[in-house]
Amino acid sequence: MSVLGCGYLGVTHAAGMAELGHQVIGIDIDPEKIAALADGRVPFFEPGLDELITRNLAAGRLRFSTSYEDAATADVHFICVGTPQRSDASAADLSHLHAAIEALAPSLAHECLVVGKSTVPVGTAAHLAEMLRVLVPDGDTVSVAWNPEFLREGTAVADTLRPDRLVLGVADTAAEKVLREVYAPLIEAGVPVVVADLPTAEVIKTAANSFMATKISFINAIAEFCDASGADVTVVAEALGRDPRIGEQFLKAGLGFGGGCISKDIRAFQARAHDLGVGHALAFLAEVDAVNLRCRDRVVELLRKQCGGGFAGRRVAVLGAAFKPNTDDIRDSPALYVAELISREGGVAAVYDPRAMGNARQAFPHLTYATSPLDAARGADAVALLTDWQEFATLDPRVLGKEVKSRNVVDGRHLLDAEEWQGAGWQYVAPGRPALQS
Ligand code: UDX
Repeated sequence: MSVLGCGYLGVTHAAGMAELGHQVIGIDIDPEKIAALADGRVPFFEPGLDELITRNLAAGRLRFSTSYEDAATADVHFICVGTPQRSDASAADLSHLHAAIEALAPSLAHECLVVGKSTVPVGTAAHLAEMLRVLVPDGDTVSVAWNPEFLREGTAVADTLRPDRLVLGVADTAAEKVLREVYAPLIEAGVPVVVADLPTAEVIKTAANSFMATKISFINAIAEFCDASGADVTVVAEALGRDPRIGEQFLKAGLGFGGGCISKDIRAFQARAHDLGVGHALAFLAEVDAVNLRCRDRVVELLRKQCGGGFAGRRVAVLGAAFKPNTDDIRDSPALYVAELISREGGVAAVYDPRAMGNARQAFPHLTYATSPLDAARGADAVALLTDWQEFATLDPRVLGKEVKSRNVVDGRHLLDAEEWQGAGWQYVAPGRPALQS
């Protein structure tokens, strides 16, 4: 089989499919990326992925190439290219997807299945099927399926090898049979399968991301309400989460969601709803987006207060740069948004992250970078905990307290033990926990 697009999703999927025993070729147009991967080097940090790639390269089940022609003999082609937000609109940019299909089509000379995994607006699979019918020399031999991917960064390997469910979006039983063969080891191990038609499979993915975004923004809206009413959002979330109808996951208030997927997907979903004349049905997602973006400014406001009303001439230790822990991905990172605002207002944002320093430095060269949490804290007027890396949870507030100028901390991720930090003489504040601030 082939995997087209060796970004985050493609590389993990290619390695995962090889691990299931398939012969896999990963294709990407970036020669540097392909050279690194062929050499067993993953161009981003993802726990366990290096080992998976190295093992499958050595076993001869996994190869990488820049040539689409090398994919020609495969029976199944997974499309894993990115579908970012358009620069001029909130809709998805499908240019990489169209380019991949155009590059692949001329080489397809025998019966095969093209399987989309990228997150796309509903109707894309039908459009690609039509493109292939026109572009492939004998277009009738190629069919299209949609098999959305739900992997999370940081746990991508486990999510690929032990997914919660497989969604098989197919137009006929032949395609379903092929996909069931591809995933046979997972299905035999008990992974539930949902069979759907093409538009349903496309909608499942955007609906899933929208639901998670809504859950996070719900609890962050409650955090705003808690700030106004004296209640504690962490206790509210704990009690809500104990109800199995609600569930405890994705109820952590704080800085909100970032990363390369959720925000752009909920925006593209709204754009597609608008095109289909049902913009009103998803209008609430605009509010979900707005609540999420407000979280960042609310954390900035808490910090500004701790810095005496403004950042000019102040130093803030910024703990975290990645959009979430266990990744070096800084796309739409709430932590770097906060750091950037501090710096823009004349303050020094001294950033430390266990994995994302290289990416952060490249994208935000004007920020200050520290070599450790202690180094970041040296002489700081406040400490901002902005990414919930486990190693920050175990920081000793007494040790850090000796480094800072003032013992002020804003816990933007509700990670730290408030009592412990207060006991060590810190002014601890966190969004949605007003009682701690008095
Ligand atoms: C998400 C989806 O989970 C995944 O299924 C999809 O394939 C891609 O998008 P990912 O972007 O890797 O995955 O991150 P996820 O673990 O879902 O977290 C998203 C963001 O929400 C992070 O910034 C995280 O910090 C934040 N978050 C998560 C919260 O603020 N509170 C929570 O309770 C949970």
